[in-house]
Amino acid sequence: MKKIKGRFITIEGVEGAGKSTHIPVLEELLRGGGIDFVRSREPGGSPLAERIRELLLARDDEAPAALTELLLIFAARAEHLAKRIEPALAAGKWVLCDRFTDATFAYQGGGRGLPKAAIAALQELVQGGLRPDLSIILDLDPAIGLSRIRDRGQLDRIEREDIAFHARVRQCYLDIARAEPGRCLLIDAGQPPAAVGRDLRAALRERLPELR
Ligand code: TMP
Repeated sequence: MKKIKGRFITIEGVEGAGKSTHIPVLEELLRGGGIDFVRSREPGGSPLAERIRELLLARDDEAPAALTELLLIFAARAEHLAKRIEPALAAGKWVLCDRFTDATFAYQGGGRGLPKAAIAALQELVQGGLRPDLSIILDLDPAIGLSRIRDRGQLDRIEREDIAFHARVRQCYLDIARAEPGRCLLIDAGQPPAAVGRDLRAALRERLPELR
């Protein structure tokens, strides 16, 4: 595997936690620090992976079995890593990714109830030792998040899962943040957006000396 030089930052959270609002805050911070970065997302981030994303989120087709969903997510991830993330990191760029494998543990592990050991095995196969350097987890009561996204319009297949599913997703994110405090940054996304932005800026400057 190529030597990794850039930094890999991910942002996670339940539906409606505010990733779209706060990713621009992160981009502004990186730009302000003179950092060369690429922004991406999962599932997706490369042409084939974006096609897999469409299959995963489509509402009209027959829903995939939970294991099919998991394998499609890791297939998309393998493609995204090979075509976009690894080349960018190897070239010394930073990667800012909207969701990554924490989402798989949260949604397919917590939400769908698939065994964490199976997800960990796929993580090892697809990523080898590659893990994000920093994962920002926007924590929010899923009832609030879901009411926000309902106001925005049509929900995709996963967003339409019931509140208990989304509560398990949140719990799983909290467990990850607690288990890996060195990698994860837990932000209270129930605050007004300006306060969330302020917390994000302060925490990132503290964690990433390049941004000071
Ligand atoms: P988003 O772009 O709104 O975050 O939508 C992506 C959806 O895909 C979201 O509902 C979470 C879901 N997802 C998983 O279920 N597992 C994963 O590993 C990833 C990356 C996303």
